[in-house]
Amino acid sequence: MLEDVLKTIDGRRDQSIALLKEFLSIPSVSAQPDHKPDMQRCAQWLADQFRFAAMDVAVMPTKGTFDKLSAGHPAVVAKNKHQPGRPTILLYGHYDVQPPEPLEQWKTGPFEPTIRDGAIYARGAADDKGQVWAHVEAIMAWQAHGGPPINLTVIIEGEEEIGSDNLGAFFKEHRDALRADLAVISDTNQFAKGLPAITYGLRGLCYAEVFITGPSHDLHSGLFGGAVVNPANFLCEIVASLHDDKGRVTIPGFYDDVVALTETERAMWRRLPFSEDEFAKGVGLKKGTGEEGYSSIERKWARPTCDVNGITTGYQGPGAKTIIPSTASMKISMRLVPDQDPEKIQVAFEKTIRAKCGDQVQVKFVWHGASKPVLVPIDSRPMQFAAEAVEQGFGVKPTMMREGGSIPVVGLIKQALGIDTLLVGFGLPDDRVHSPNEKFDLDSLYKGTRSAAVLYQKLSQLK
Ligand code: BES
Ligand code: MN
Ligand code: MN
Repeated sequence: MLEDVLKTIDGRRDQSIALLKEFLSIPSVSAQPDHKPDMQRCAQWLADQFRFAAMDVAVMPTKGTFDKLSAGHPAVVAKNKHQPGRPTILLYGHYDVQPPEPLEQWKTGPFEPTIRDGAIYARGAADDKGQVWAHVEAIMAWQAHGGPPINLTVIIEGEEEIGSDNLGAFFKEHRDALRADLAVISDTNQFAKGLPAITYGLRGLCYAEVFITGPSHDLHSGLFGGAVVNPANFLCEIVASLHDDKGRVTIPGFYDDVVALTETERAMWRRLPFSEDEFAKGVGLKKGTGEEGYSSIERKWARPTCDVNGITTGYQGPGAKTIIPSTASMKISMRLVPDQDPEKIQVAFEKTIRAKCGDQVQVKFVWHGASKPVLVPIDSRPMQFAAEAVEQGFGVKPTMMREGGSIPVVGLIKQALGIDTLLVGFGLPDDRVHSPNEKFDLDSLYKGTRSAAVLYQKLSQLK
């Protein structure tokens, strides 16, 4: 049976790419209010694909008002015919994408999917539409041969890139409909081209906006400069003080709950085919930098960070304008590792910044969706099945890796549904997710589709 399914996948390669192109041409940017109708359209388009595959589908709104913090973009939920006695697998993905800006840096339009050098270029190609598509194709192929031997509940949401703020409540509300034995997500990477991977750890995330106000209005920098606080200078001083000269974060208590890397894990990672030079070169740098005493892989996968993502202050137009700005703000992300707790880190951060501000400036915080760090055991049966499926799909044994990115839903699934997640990702580290010219290799699409099809069969042995 699996042989027939794989043959169907082989025979549908062109069709699969054509449909992925349709998917990628819908600008489902969850963060931008103008795209609200596109979010609906994308959810409906996806629902149609599941309908064509003879699945039961619902496009379900989440409960969120459409403002910056929570959006209410619908989730698509699809099920095959569930049969008693079979394990139930919750397959998660997201159809929303990051904003495409800066537009002028794209070689072809972000929503005009184009094939170059064996890859498809578009916003969302790897994150996460292409990976979702691999699963949809695998499901379609199985459905053409009597259906996969598992109970599948698929949920593809539209708010991942804005923090999945409403998904926890959604899971609780629909707990019975979503009940499963295990979750599967393809929203991560392979280690390198030709070296697929299973991910067993993710960093968590704490994301703050900090607003600092000094004088009540912008002031002439000659008439007032030097005699009043400058919020722009002040903010930069705060930022500069957040790290010491060893690259460590100075927020008191920041490292309290950090689990130290074991020598076993470090040794395992040292054996991975990774070049510090290539890593730096790949992003246009001479060398990597970060916390002293750690390799780049260790820094990215297992050490926490505090990074400014954006600063807004003062005059931004052409030419000079001599002012002391009244306000300065920044967006700042902290990547967290086991066992750091986003809530505790949030409190520590606020306390530290407030203390630095004293009575010189006013400060306000807005917190965006937090995400818990994730670490799953690598010797479980589902892990074994995933490794076998990927080996069969890619023709290469996968390696075990951790990742520096975050997927908020993994923690929510554990909390609301009480189950673990298998992270089987098909992206490549140079896919430029969140950057201009994002791509997804067509080879990854094909091999990912095969891996997914095999995985469904392997997982049928769970019960
Ligand atoms: N798929 C990514 C995360 C990712 C990418 C993990 C590659 C591992 C390898 C996800 O869509 C993402 O971008 N997550 C955000 C979370 C945030 C918006 C709450 C992140 O990590 O910044
Ligand atoms: Mn993603
Ligand atoms: Mn993303």
